Amino acid sequence: MANLFVRKSIASLKAEAEASDLEGPKRSLTAFDLTMLGIGAIIGAGIFVLTGTAAATNAGPAIALSFVLGGVACAFAGLCYAEMASTVPIGGSAYTYAYATMGEFIAWLIGWDLILEYSLGATTVAIGWSGYVVSFLHNIGINIPPHFANAPGTKMINIPDAIAAKLHLAAGWTSLTGVQNLLEKNNVDWSSFAHSTAYLNVPAMFIVAAVTALLVVGIKESARVNNVIVVIKVGIVLLFIAAGIGFVSTDNWGGSFIPANEGPGVYGWSGILRGAGVVFFAFIGFDAVSTTAQEAKNPQRDMPIGILGSLVICTLLYILVSFVLTGVVNYKQLNVPDPIAVGVDAIGLKWLSPIVKLGAIAGLSSVILVMLLSQPRIFYSMSRDGLLPAFVSKLHPRFGTPYITTIITGLVVMVASALLPISIVGELVSIGTLFAFAVVCVGVLVLRITQPDIERPFKTPLVWVTAPLGTLFAILLMAGLPGDTWLRLIIWMAIGLAIYFLYGMQHSRLGHEKPVAVAVDSDLL
Ligand code: ALA
Repeated sequence: MANLFVRKSIASLKAEAEASDLEGPKRSLTAFDLTMLGIGAIIGAGIFVLTGTAAATNAGPAIALSFVLGGVACAFAGLCYAEMASTVPIGGSAYTYAYATMGEFIAWLIGWDLILEYSLGATTVAIGWSGYVVSFLHNIGINIPPHFANAPGTKMINIPDAIAAKLHLAAGWTSLTGVQNLLEKNNVDWSSFAHSTAYLNVPAMFIVAAVTALLVVGIKESARVNNVIVVIKVGIVLLFIAAGIGFVSTDNWGGSFIPANEGPGVYGWSGILRGAGVVFFAFIGFDAVSTTAQEAKNPQRDMPIGILGSLVICTLLYILVSFVLTGVVNYKQLNVPDPIAVGVDAIGLKWLSPIVKLGAIAGLSSVILVMLLSQPRIFYSMSRDGLLPAFVSKLHPRFGTPYITTIITGLVVMVASALLPISIVGELVSIGTLFAFAVVCVGVLVLRITQPDIERPFKTPLVWVTAPLGTLFAILLMAGLPGDTWLRLIIWMAIGLAIYFLYGMQHSRLGHEKPVAVAVDSDLL
């Protein structure tokens, strides 16, 4: 029987990485590309959508402090990822790191768990993309039929322009549950508005299909498109900060930067903490950089630059955006799907509002791009290890991309984003990502103990403080997520366990000592 805890040695992983120069994906990504990929994955629905809700209902103007907390928590994990990525410079991210430190069984669990981060992350952001696009198209006179703009069974309602302007809502067709409370609080009788029930989310399917096609064509092409989108979205974020900073007024804080606590998670310090849990989603993505190690020109040096560089840049932008946003408009008005556009309106720059929406649409597209780029690369690594069927790691003869698995991932994400409501998927992405963070932080310590002398081009500073804190923060943020999210995680992992015992364990190359066709040394543990 295969050994559940068989580990891959770092030397064998490096041998595989070197062999991949000959037969694996093409190495074309520079430190700049990697940093841009990180920013591409990070800035998205979190800052463009969730900031408003978290400010309005949890932290008030102190949402900037929630971002500081979230940034610090991610920095601990980011430092551990940077050490792992430079020490084990081969694709697969947390899956590969777990294989090297805790053995095949945990590695499989993490690989399975990462589907929640990447495939479900892409699904969540594609659904958010659809909402933004439907609203933007409505503003320019194009109306997507409501039947085709949301998950099946979602009750849709057509918000008239006048009501939308009064309540700072997006006009046109939108999901009733998203706006019902606000309408009722403002005594708006919505029963007379046109309503309908959705069948399918077609715009979400469209963006997933378009991104998948690009990813099949090539990593370099995809990175180029990502670079352009990142310049646009960071430009718009900077424009908002520059335009708004002069208008920040403490009058908009409503009396206090940290509003008095009104119950668990509602303002005060507990609200700041809960807000950090909500906006954690905004930070997800820096770790995606580590899935492309096999396509990086100089992974040992450039992976830490890409991971930490993108995280630092985005954290600074987030703190500034949230400070400016709650300084130009009272936080109570921010519980809307497009809070940054509301901030722009408050400054009086009406012309900037559609540009911000376009920036958000572009921004969400690059998140989907990097998530859908990362997922097949993890499957690729799992397939090379025998834990998934061999066809998964087949590369396109001309483009050098893992095209079969890219297309399968794209199809599955297309179906998921056509059918699932955003409320079910978002928190599952966060819990799945946090689980992987905790394992990587523990993995760094395990490797320091088991293999103290291996080459570590980047070393986590104060590792005995940083890594435990990274684990602790991840567990604390997981603990703050609702019970039904935990239940879904447990069900998902149980399915993963069944697949491992029925397939992965039987086919594992290392478990049966059938090394892949590359030089594998003998110090397997
Ligand atoms: N961090 C990504 C976003 O905010 C997932 O959309």
